Order: sequence, then C-alpha cells, then structure tokens
Amino acid sequence: MALPFFRKRHSAAAGQVDFDHLPRHVAIILDGNGRWARRRGLPRTAGHKAGAETFRTIATYCRDIGLDYLTVYAFSTENWRRPEEEVSTIMDLLKRYMLEALDTMERDNVRLRFMGDISALSGELQELARRCDEISGRLTGCQCNICINYGGRAELVHAAQDFARACLAGTARPEELTEETFESYLYSAGIPSPELLIRPGGEQRLSNFLLWQCAYAEFYYTDVLWPDFTVEDLHRAFAAYQSRDRRFGGIKR
Ligand code: IPE
Ligand code: IPE
Ligand code: MG
Repeated sequence: MALPFFRKRHSAAAGQVDFDHLPRHVAIILDGNGRWARRRGLPRTAGHKAGAETFRTIATYCRDIGLDYLTVYAFSTENWRRPEEEVSTIMDLLKRYMLEALDTMERDNVRLRFMGDISALSGELQELARRCDEISGRLTGCQCNICINYGGRAELVHAAQDFARACLAGTARPEELTEETFESYLYSAGIPSPELLIRPGGEQRLSNFLLWQCAYAEFYYTDVLWPDFTVEDLHRAFAAYQSRDRRFGGIKR
C-alpha cells in the first residue's frame, strides 16, 4: 500500500523501513512504566500516566501509516498482585482513554476492542467497553486491541471451556476441531496473528501474552522504557522485522 510520503515521519530509522511491506499486525507489551518513574524519583503511577501518552502517540502513528491491527498488553491477569493504588490508577487511565475514544473513533475510523476477561472490571468500564465495541462494529479502519485482565493461559482455558460447551450442546464435535476452528474460540477470533511482537523495557519474555498467536511472531526487544518509546523506535522494530528470514519451519530457497 503506497502512502503519501508526508505521512511518514522522517527519521534515520525510517530510511531503513519499506513502508509498502509493513507487518499487518503488530503487538506491543507496554513495559517499563514503573522503572521510568523510579528513575525520575516519581511514584510508579506517574510512569503509567506517561505510558498512556506514549500509547496515544504510537497508536495514532500506526493508524496513520495504515497498519491493520495493533494489539497492546496493558494489564495482565497477574497485574492484580500490584498495590491497589497502582491498579486503580491504571483502571482510571483506561476509563479516560475509553471516554476519549468514544468521542474520536468514528472521526478517525479506528476500531477499539478489548481482549481479556473484562467481567472482572467495574460495571462502568464494562459498559464503556461495550459502547466502544458497538461503534467499532460499524467501522472499517485500523483495529486497536487493548488487552486488559488478559492472560494467554486464561485465554486458552476459556477457549477450551467454550469448545467443550459447544460439544455438550451438540453444535461441535471433538474430532472436527482444527487449529483454524480452535482460533474461533479465542479472544482474537477473526484477527490474523501478529507478525511482529515488540517488548520495550528490557525484559526478554512473553509474560503470558498471546501464547497461541505468537507461535511465529518475530520478537523485537529493546531496553527503551515504554514512556520513552518513540516513532523512531517503532521504525527500528520495523527495520529489524524486515531484515528477518521468516522460514516457518521450511528452508531458505
Ligand atoms: C507496564 O509497566 C505496565 C503494566 C504492567 C501495567 P510496569 O509497571 O510493569 O513497569 P516496570 O516493569 O515495573 O518498570
Ligand atoms: C507484562 O509486564 C504485562 C504488561 C505489560 C501488561 P509485567 O511487568 O507485568 O511483566 P513481568 O512481571 O516483568 O514478567
Ligand atoms: Mg513490568
């Protein structure tokens, strides 16, 4: 897809990127907010606020360059172990973002979906998510998936339960289950798997993110903390992705 040149931000790394062959789906683990704050002598919550701003910048840029799907890991099933004040700050930032999105998503043609068990969130957040979902159903643009109370293992268990229920109800049969039909039970049903997974913050692990979907994703790790992550860092990740030899178990011709 050729984009008008002016839409791409100029940078050294941008020169290394082939914008006609970007991945369709990019996943990002939004990590490093707490350390970013600590290095500035600020409370961890300040890091989450800064991280939310970075998310706005990167999501807008992804939409501008025509990415089909952006999936971000914002709160894991394990993140409930954090202090209550930190959890409530993250939920508050989420609420603000949802309210903002309800006003802008139609104008920007951005679909906003939530992946994870949102039944554990407040009734207000669940209602906002439902409204975002309803509007998204009428739109066609870039789809941004925000993973909240998301765990890769929980997603697989949830899918297995749904499949078992369908079998008991007589609408599915165990011997007919394939990888493709199993995918239809995941939160990510209908969405192609991410080709590129980016993890800022220096850790080199999945932390229970998209266990099924990342089977063949290219991983890109960087020590840059999420609040410091820029469009230039995204370009570096694209350039790294485009330099990889993706063989999918085959051999290089
Ligand atoms: C990521 O940043 C945000 C969430 C997990 C909610 P962290 O809060 O994990 O930041 P670090 O890893 O402690 O720096
Ligand atoms: C992963 O980050 C989860 C999110 C970014 C939402 P964590 O900070 O929770 O992961 P660990 O604890 O370093 O593995
Ligand atoms: Mg972390």
